[in-house]
Amino acid sequence: MPKKIYIRTFGCQMNFRDSEFAQGLLMDAGFAKADSPDAADVILFNTCSVRRHAEDRAYANIWNLRAMKDKRPDLVIGVIGCMAQTKREKIFEDIPLVDFTCGPDDEEDLPKIISGILKERVNVASLNKIGAKRREMFPGYRGDNLKAFVSISHGCGNYCSYCIVPYARGRERSRDPKAIFREIKDLASRGFKEITLLGQNVNSYDGYGGKSGGFARLLKDIERIKGTFRVRFMTSHPKDAQAPLFRAMGELEKICRHLHLPAQSGSDRILKLMNRRYSAMDYLNAAASYRKLVPGGSLTTDIIVGFPTESDKDFKKTLNLMKDIEFDSAFVFKYSPRPFTKAAGLADIVPEEVKAGRNTMLLDAQNTISKKNNLRLVGTTQEVLFESSKGGIAQGRTGPNKVVLVSGGDKLIGILANVRITDATCSTLRGEII
Ligand code: 5AD
Ligand code: SF4
Repeated sequence: MPKKIYIRTFGCQMNFRDSEFAQGLLMDAGFAKADSPDAADVILFNTCSVRRHAEDRAYANIWNLRAMKDKRPDLVIGVIGCMAQTKREKIFEDIPLVDFTCGPDDEEDLPKIISGILKERVNVASLNKIGAKRREMFPGYRGDNLKAFVSISHGCGNYCSYCIVPYARGRERSRDPKAIFREIKDLASRGFKEITLLGQNVNSYDGYGGKSGGFARLLKDIERIKGTFRVRFMTSHPKDAQAPLFRAMGELEKICRHLHLPAQSGSDRILKLMNRRYSAMDYLNAAASYRKLVPGGSLTTDIIVGFPTESDKDFKKTLNLMKDIEFDSAFVFKYSPRPFTKAAGLADIVPEEVKAGRNTMLLDAQNTISKKNNLRLVGTTQEVLFESSKGGIAQGRTGPNKVVLVSGGDKLIGILANVRITDATCSTLRGEII
């Protein structure tokens, strides 16, 4: 009987894809997939380090396995993902239940590590190949049959002063375009309808070599791959988001008109301390250029509140930026100091209750803006890819990533249909198929 693996994933889409990739690799190596932790011989936690809260949640969830491990001492527990890299052996001291840790850039070694531990029980931390070019491998397993993620780069070398990612995933390395095309062609031939290109900073993609065009060229080449699928991408950095990318988004049929462009702050002083390398004016200009070149495109963002030294005046500038730009949606995060990062050494910490107040103010402002933006779509016709249904209501998304609800059942799943929008809230559109 093959040993069964269960993977629990925390964090971003990158982690989701890494879990799927790990599952595929392990299946190719003769392991099976477990549908629940109870049925598993090996439980993996794919962890996130981006904020302290994410790490606390992972710790709490791993500790929850204590009773199960007491009952079944043979159970193998592994920690993979960002926290496995940033903490490595420290995790064995913190949680003695853990048998091994394996960082994101060491994933290819998982089958070997797990086979070794099943034979001989010793704590193992993976080799620590952080920052090395990952070996190209193409496990066939996918967790879904409609939407798929494809990593186009790994890691990030921007060193935003608050961010732990370079220490968890190493500097940025672009994948070879041929490997990306091979993966997308395979997905297209298997009938996938939506492909999301993933990278910490997709628009600094340089897989063709420095001078011969980057991300915009990749999008153009992907457009030529045969198949009826649409393409999304995330995340983009404002310093690299310029007209050639927007022009490509405006011209290409398969590319969804949605740009996720984290602004982080509207204060130039804070942006400088964050090492973001653009000003609020640069951001406004990029947004204006995007809107001109990509008609109907949506724009979403990430904001951090309570970065060290953020004053009421700085915060006001962020609020004003949000109101000026009228984002379609925004994720707002309370600043969390992270080990290794430059900002962790900054004094003048913003009190938790001030962070919480600013967080609420931004979310309230954004809800009003989102509702206004969505109401503008009432009466228009939108192309919607349906992805799920429950209780007679089918749910899908437009190219610009708006959630749309219509009456309908499972038959609609996987179907691309024109929908006339009849009503809207801050988070969803309602409509009728025409
Ligand atoms: N504290 C709070 N939010 C953070 N982010 C990244 N690092 C931190 C941190 N230390 C946010 C940024 C990023 C998103 C993925 O997480 O807004 O865009
Ligand atoms: Fe994703 Fe960053 Fe969290 Fe790692 S630390 S899982 S890259 S959000």
